[in-house]
Amino acid sequence: MSAIPFLITALRKAQMVRIIVILVIFFLLASASRYQGSFEFSIGEDGEVQSAVPPEAGEHDVYYSHHIASFNKDDIKPWTKGDTAALRTTEGQKAAQALTSSPFVNSTTTALRDNYFLDLTKRLRVYRSLWMALKEYYDQLEQKQQQELFFTAPPTELAPAVELLQKMEQQNFPWIHKHHNTSYDLYRESRNGGRGIVMCVGDYHTKYARTVIKTLREVLKSSLPIEIYYTGEPDLNPENRAWFETFDNVKTIDVTTLIDNNLLVLEGWAVKPFAMLVSRFSEIILMDSDAYFLQDPAIMFEDEGYKETGTVYFYDRTLFPGLGADKKKWLESFLPTMSNHPAKTRWFRLKGDHEQESGVVVFDKKRLFLGLLAICKINDLHERKQVTYIKTWGDKETFWIALEMIQEPYSFVKYGGGAIGNVGDAIPYNTEFLPREEIERYNKGEHLTTTNPVNLKDGTVRKNVVPKLGRVCGNQLHFDFRGRPLWWNSGVVRDKYTPGSPYLLYTAYMKDEDGDWDFGSSCLVQKHSTSIMEVEWEQRKVAFEILKTDRGVAVEIDRPYIKEILDIPALIQSQGAKGGHGNSEAI
Ligand SMILES: *[C@@H]1O[C@H](CO)[C@@H](O)[C@H](O)[C@H]1NC(C)=O
Ligand SMILES: *[C@@H]1O[C@H](CO)[C@@H](O)[C@H](O)[C@H]1NC(C)=O
Repeated sequence: MSAIPFLITALRKAQMVRIIVILVIFFLLASASRYQGSFEFSIGEDGEVQSAVPPEAGEHDVYYSHHIASFNKDDIKPWTKGDTAALRTTEGQKAAQALTSSPFVNSTTTALRDNYFLDLTKRLRVYRSLWMALKEYYDQLEQKQQQELFFTAPPTELAPAVELLQKMEQQNFPWIHKHHNTSYDLYRESRNGGRGIVMCVGDYHTKYARTVIKTLREVLKSSLPIEIYYTGEPDLNPENRAWFETFDNVKTIDVTTLIDNNLLVLEGWAVKPFAMLVSRFSEIILMDSDAYFLQDPAIMFEDEGYKETGTVYFYDRTLFPGLGADKKKWLESFLPTMSNHPAKTRWFRLKGDHEQESGVVVFDKKRLFLGLLAICKINDLHERKQVTYIKTWGDKETFWIALEMIQEPYSFVKYGGGAIGNVGDAIPYNTEFLPREEIERYNKGEHLTTTNPVNLKDGTVRKNVVPKLGRVCGNQLHFDFRGRPLWWNSGVVRDKYTPGSPYLLYTAYMKDEDGDWDFGSSCLVQKHSTSIMEVEWEQRKVAFEILKTDRGVAVEIDRPYIKEILDIPALIQSQGAKGGHGNSEAI
């Protein structure tokens, strides 16, 4: 008896096999219907970002509040019994060989072939169909607790398909096999893992991560379990590990004990998707060590885009228009078909060079396990070094691009990355800083609207420069689906790379859609008189608690060269962007 129902439907005519072989081989090569996926779900396919969602927006409005990537069903080919039968023919063997040939130029190098990413897309798509088709066979073995027999003793009628899956898995995801027999085993482990937060933290980033963890537990009262991943013993020292573990339900885990890091050589950003892959959680909030939340992050699991697709992603700022053309060409070179999403991107509309900000990623591993494998794949050693991180900024765009490659859905909250902080640029950014006495005035609540002197890093003093108003200067802000501030990244001070740079007031924010970026000073400049928004009082109080937490962490670390102990600016209700002094005066 066949393990898979659709295989029981016997191939009626032997001559069908040849036709099916051709179908198999050529669906891989299909290049028709380039990025004209289904638009059935989407409004605003012109890419226009909706600037306001009604406060009463409910589940039926998900297509107003999100960009939902959906695939044309005809573009997704299931694996059929005919495909398995075809593998027994000469043509089928050739197709299988083509699918598992080396990605490298020749056997003496690890240089990837020119069109390798196009091959990889086809491989990921075939792997996905095959995986889905063979899952029932795995499930049956699992019921008998014989899953270790998956590769070793498949029933005859499945054998060629199982063999192909094994070869593809060994070639594309060999790093899972040190600790797992098949990807199904890895999938099974996290099927009932519940919800949790995953962070990747090394020693350098603990100065931010400690504030984030304390904020989650003590300010936002989040009880979500947290896993903190590091890459081998030297990455996170025992003191830091012990500190994190003093919190309930916070675990530190060495990712290299769960995945083969000899093959991956993880460093920097690349570890993030792999931490998600080995995490015991089923539903994951991946959070950078400097992602500060103004609301309980758990609300993202109730997000309708997340419920619809299994992900919620956030957009980056709209920066460097014009540079996207190259990215569009690049995507077209390896995606024979696309969802309805890429057409809406700033890349395709030549409006910007960045799409995703991966400081927070919400991901349902139960639903999109194969998508996660694909994300990991383009963060793999050779893929990231030779292609992904050359073409894009680190891991950030991989979360959606890989899902395009393997054809799994995803969603973005529609708002671009905005700004939160202070109105105006009275506190300088980057190469310059305020004299001590000016910072003291600022922290007491005085407005630095005058031409305060600024010490330049070359030792000279600049005077009589009038601060620019009509802008929000500070950190990068992200919104919930209603457009309410949800989290920000890039620190809690005006400029985390300038010593002595003071804490921000968090009085004002602006949406990306309502401003133009002055990238060099990290300010979003208003497009119209109503661009600047006042941070509501409840959220200002949360931000203030985050600053107090951050200072507490600095005092506890007590090593200013690691983390400066800064004064906390006065929290003055009338100092809001609109309250008391009006938009352009409150600084
Ligand atoms: C293999 O490829 C590398 C890199 O492209 C090249 O330098 C080398 O000459 C090739 N070796 C052979 C034997 O073809
Ligand atoms: C993996 O396979 C080996 C033997 O083939 C078996 O002993 C082991 O239990 C298997 N692991 C899992 C997680 O099934």
